[in-house]
Amino acid sequence: MSADAREMAALGILVGDDYWVVESGDAAYGLGVEPGGLLLQTYWGPRLPRLDDYPAAQRGTAFSMENPLQHTHQEIATGEAGVSDERTLDGYRDGGPRGFVLRFVSADVQGEKLSITLRDAVLEADIVVEYEALPQRGLVTRRMRIANAGAQPLHLNRVLSGTFYLPQTGEYVLNHLDGRWGDEFRMQREPLGHGVFQRESRRMTTSHGGVPYFAMERAEAGWGAREESGDVWFGTLEWSGNWKLLAERTRDGRSMVHLGINDHDFVYDLLPGEAFTTPRLIFGYTGGGFGAMSRSFHDFVRQDLSPRPNYRPPVVYNSWYATLFDVSAEGQVKLAEKAAAMGVEMFVIDDGWFDKRVNDRAGLGDWWPDKNKFPLGLKPLTDAVHGRGMQFGIWIEPEMVNPDSDLYRAHPDWIIYYPGRERTLSRNQSMLNLGRVDVQDYLIDMFDRLLSSTEIDFIKWDMNRNVSEPGWPEHDRDQREIWVRYVDGLYRVWKTLRERHPNVIWENCSGGGGRVDMGMMGITEQSWASDNTVPPARLEIQEGYSQLFPANTMAAWVTDEDLHEFSLDLRFHVSMAGALGVGGNLLTWTDEMLARAAEHVAIYKTIREVVSAGDLYRLRSPRHTDLNALMYVAKDKSEAVLFAFRILKARIGKLPLVFPAGLDPEALYADEEGVTRSGAAWGQLGIQLKLKDLQSTIIRLRRV
Ligand code: DGJ
Repeated sequence: MSADAREMAALGILVGDDYWVVESGDAAYGLGVEPGGLLLQTYWGPRLPRLDDYPAAQRGTAFSMENPLQHTHQEIATGEAGVSDERTLDGYRDGGPRGFVLRFVSADVQGEKLSITLRDAVLEADIVVEYEALPQRGLVTRRMRIANAGAQPLHLNRVLSGTFYLPQTGEYVLNHLDGRWGDEFRMQREPLGHGVFQRESRRMTTSHGGVPYFAMERAEAGWGAREESGDVWFGTLEWSGNWKLLAERTRDGRSMVHLGINDHDFVYDLLPGEAFTTPRLIFGYTGGGFGAMSRSFHDFVRQDLSPRPNYRPPVVYNSWYATLFDVSAEGQVKLAEKAAAMGVEMFVIDDGWFDKRVNDRAGLGDWWPDKNKFPLGLKPLTDAVHGRGMQFGIWIEPEMVNPDSDLYRAHPDWIIYYPGRERTLSRNQSMLNLGRVDVQDYLIDMFDRLLSSTEIDFIKWDMNRNVSEPGWPEHDRDQREIWVRYVDGLYRVWKTLRERHPNVIWENCSGGGGRVDMGMMGITEQSWASDNTVPPARLEIQEGYSQLFPANTMAAWVTDEDLHEFSLDLRFHVSMAGALGVGGNLLTWTDEMLARAAEHVAIYKTIREVVSAGDLYRLRSPRHTDLNALMYVAKDKSEAVLFAFRILKARIGKLPLVFPAGLDPEALYADEEGVTRSGAAWGQLGIQLKLKDLQSTIIRLRRV
């Protein structure tokens, strides 16, 4: 390797002759141009010592009736020359050719960024693929821009963000997340057979049904990944709308993953001079198992993606479970008094505060305080909350409208609908068409005025239905663009409000965790993971959430759900492993419960720093109901917090040991009882817990 290349490597991009290696952490991603001008993906795996170690960019070999391109790993798969694999990109011109044929034009390296330009001379399209190495995270980002350089419209009917070719070895297992309402972030392992395995959302949002994410491990016995060891190739998408993940295994033993915006019911038109940019893919490889993958994602979210880097969540009280729609100024003040005494820092009034919102049949769209509930407006309540030393937040659902609202009566055409068809309601509401610029402007103006006129420190933005009749008859282009334009409009409204009100903290919610993704992580501080707050289920939901997203974003409230079955201590411990909140009806809690809760809140404040900013180690999955354990270790390894939960009876008398991880092996750590051991000894000897059924504990280890 030349001295130049070495120097570049420190920056993240290694440059050869028409050859580039994007190096990040311990991982490398290779790209090269073969003599015919095809851009090929040459490598994805652990970093190699020399540039010459990376495989050359060359076409595959012909086999029987197949064209050699069938076995050639084009960075952007287009189906050229009859290749029958899934495509990254597809498009056409009216009366012209269908499909792209791309040839290399140029490349440019600027610091940690590489951009490669390709061109289809016949279709008259210019493509730029941009890569950025994030060396400290071990991650790479990739996005693609397609520009119409011709004189006629160019129709795009598939624009995924990327295609990955896994090393051609044996077989693979796909790890992914699926779910449904109340059961989000369910971890799944899918051994891949031949053919295409598809995961997707067609609901306009990311959906409860999953997260656009994959983590591939080898399937051969003994070669799979574990929590803290083994090869994992992984990626996720920065997008909050319809998505599609294709895991493809061909008859000739190649394994591919494709991920991007869903092409279901999809067309996006580019008029002459226009361009389309895909959402970013964030991807990586690690030899350190799923734990290392998650820690990379967590650092990326906390430091690079979050609109408020290094965010420390306030302790929230949310009134939803306590009052539902039965909201009153006096009732909220009474709750606020109890919350303040408990040490809560942010008091949030949920659904039910705005005009005519006595149940879920009216009000959405009319975002001013209900006169019967708040005859003097919100000011007496905000004053009462602020006067007790807390900040104040409210719930909104901007994307929705009830037919019984002033907004709908004034603008019945602002919703998503098909002319002549029934406008299917869900939870008695319709979806506003956020693809429309006039709707976006209206929402920006409406919420800008609300935020300017009321002392609001926190907004919970909810979204409570799936799309139906996805039409946009007023659109002067192909109506199917709605799938993309809606999400772009949503981002515009949200980002504009953030810019105008930079001090406001935003919580993302969609009927629980129905829209949690890297797109949302980039515009909100925290997300409500699920409406399911029952501890055993919640622990599994939190484990799935933690595959990608860090604890400081994971809103977790202690509620009254099944209170008689699960102790307050257990509930608090579950929530303290994330961004602690309280959502029970404090007016019905006994003095003893309130005092106990205050103790937990006080403890949380002392561990919040480690939980929010530390490295997560999942020690034993909640799918082992006898004992679940996880721990957070401060970045400087000065302290750690270990959470352990026993949900069901262990079969054997003694619980299995819990082995702390992530400590400095040489340093000495003491627990709160004064037991002092080296980090290595804690990890090897483990901790014997004495938990009874449905008990939990928090153990703190401090470096001495
Ligand atoms: C669904 C959310 O997940 C709940 O937390 C609550 O905000 C309700 N919507 C209110 O309608």
